[in-house]
Amino acid sequence: MTLCLLDPRHGYYPTRDPIGAGADFITAPEISQIFGELVGIWLANCWQAMGKPKTTQLVELGPGKGTMMSDILRTARSVPEFSKSLQVHLLEASAALVAVQAKTLGGFAQTINWTDDLNDTGVGPLLLVANEYLDCLPVRQFVRRKNFWFERLIGLSDTNELQFTLSPTPLAQTELKLIPPNLLQAPDNTLVEIRSGLSGFFDPLAERAKTDPVIALFIDYGPTSSEAGDSFQAVSKHQKVDPLKNAGEVDLTAQVDFAELKRIAEQVGLLTSNIVTQGSWLQQMGLLERAAALSNGKPNTRAKIARQVHRLSDDNEMGELFKVMAVYSKGISMPVGFDV
Ligand SMILES: C[S@@+](CC[C@H](N)C(=O)[O-])C[C@H]1O[C@@H](n2cnc3c(N)ncnc32)[C@H](O)[C@@H]1O
Repeated sequence: MTLCLLDPRHGYYPTRDPIGAGADFITAPEISQIFGELVGIWLANCWQAMGKPKTTQLVELGPGKGTMMSDILRTARSVPEFSKSLQVHLLEASAALVAVQAKTLGGFAQTINWTDDLNDTGVGPLLLVANEYLDCLPVRQFVRRKNFWFERLIGLSDTNELQFTLSPTPLAQTELKLIPPNLLQAPDNTLVEIRSGLSGFFDPLAERAKTDPVIALFIDYGPTSSEAGDSFQAVSKHQKVDPLKNAGEVDLTAQVDFAELKRIAEQVGLLTSNIVTQGSWLQQMGLLERAAALSNGKPNTRAKIARQVHRLSDDNEMGELFKVMAVYSKGISMPVGFDV
């Protein structure tokens, strides 16, 4: 997954801008400005909860076209002290998208720092946001056969095509900790997916939380509890395609297991919010009120915004599939938006 998505010369992200109606997929910030605006309001609220620090490091993981950060920074202007406190850091693996982000964010007062290291994000209080970032991190899959667990691997067929295969030997006793405990005794042929890319992910935030307040927001698609099943998928031109065909030319993701995310964050001493659906979070943050304010009485605008709201929050669209969770340091109370 990492090689196909991120190889600097042949990988999917470094060589293109894949986001948009005419490209491969569309994301929430590209559907409506309201999405990034509500994230901006949420961040201003967190900044107040952190005691209104004079300097705040604002980090975004995988910022895409920079649209969400642009909506955040524009919204932040309505709280001038918050806006003035912000130092922005973008973690982006794609040179093509860095160029797009630089263009999108060129007009803001804040200096933007691009980095590939979460430790390189200034000092002091830290706010972090990540929309559809975690689903790009690599997963491993394991299949249960006759009381043993085998890793599902990718190899070559007789005709030199990529194909799925199982490891010749089962996992050793010491490796069984990779399998979620509730699925260890699952029936034959159960497939379990774990996000190996998350290993150590929260360590820099936990380290930072020892000295400074930290609040992070994760929005992605996936379930609230660890479930068996294969969610590895490829998308090209808004359609699901075979993930083993056209390596490096198609987007690869797997759903985010929010229960696993919660466990990993708590294991390193961070606190976590409830896990809520995107529809619920957006509504708690004022989706309908903002939509009404933007609709300004014109029937065409009203209909367009109603379509955007539906897409972002309806249970049959992104509203239920996508989840939201905050991770934060001790001493801070649960951020807004997470009532269940
Ligand atoms: C699905 S896009 C989401 C973009 C944006 N957050 C949005 O909502 O429109 C994933 C983003 O994460 C970046 N990305 C993926 N894997 C990454 C990695 N390991 N390190 C840094 N950026 C990564 C991609 O280049 C892209 O900007």
